[in-house]
Amino acid sequence: MAHVLVTRRLPGPAVDRLTAAGHTVDVWEDDVPPTPAVLRERAAGADGLLCLLTDRVDRALLDAAPRLRAVATFAVGVDNIDLAATAARGIPVGNTPDVLTDATADLTWALLLAAARRIVPAAGAAVDGSWRTWDPTGFLGADVHGATLGLIGHGRIGQAVARRARGFDMTVLHTRQTPLDELLAASDFVSLHVPLTPQTRHLVDADALRAMKPSAILVNTARGPIVDQAALRVALTEGWIAGAALDVTDPEPLPVDDPLLAAPNLLVVPHIGSATRTARERMAAMAVDNLLAGLAGEPMPFPV
Ligand code: DGY
Repeated sequence: MAHVLVTRRLPGPAVDRLTAAGHTVDVWEDDVPPTPAVLRERAAGADGLLCLLTDRVDRALLDAAPRLRAVATFAVGVDNIDLAATAARGIPVGNTPDVLTDATADLTWALLLAAARRIVPAAGAAVDGSWRTWDPTGFLGADVHGATLGLIGHGRIGQAVARRARGFDMTVLHTRQTPLDELLAASDFVSLHVPLTPQTRHLVDADALRAMKPSAILVNTARGPIVDQAALRVALTEGWIAGAALDVTDPEPLPVDDPLLAAPNLLVVPHIGSATRTARERMAAMAVDNLLAGLAGEPMPFPV
């Protein structure tokens, strides 16, 4: 029997399977994550950890958790986990690929369409009294159909986004076939689908933003730090690009007085790419599958 720390309440019945398997389960009940110090304290006696992307699983945490022998993250992204440190301790790590691919691709399209067609300001005008009449020049946006979509990253989610583009008769470019500078210069929409690594941090910097068309829209449903946000603020303010739609920021959430939030033509939503009931319940089930296997000394079904 093992002691398991679960760092947030999860949707669906999956976590009950840990108790049913005879493990003792400590669930962090707050709506916000534990601080690193509190996490270290809570993990001190844990054999298993079911963590979120908001928890840093680093050497300090591993040192504070000498019994830890399995880590399952409730996410596909693993940039919050020091994989070299877990490997050095021989701790298996599992994640939740595939089950959130379509939900995240759908959200990418929701953001792309909303930014292109100015849905948020238009919806605001419909309820705040500022919409006075049908206006030939009101809320003019960009055509999506027939446009060029540039995908930075063409893994599971990038490919799912590309499949949806067919219905809009778009030309799709991606960085596995087109050099980044060419893709940036040719795309009407640029969408990010790479993991956060030292190589992709600030991949979209001032030079990349300047290389985009002034009419282009940037969409990020991957990880906030892939975009240099200071450069993005300047790009939006000075009109280097026409707009940006972000599901992810650095940090999350952005402080309400962060200058980026005041930039024009910016749409930000709170990291909801995988936020469908089905995706999140499947993610919980996979994380529990991983943890149960890891604790039993068996190979995790979804190892990183
Ligand atoms: C992930 O899984 O990495 C997403 O960012 C959240 O679902």
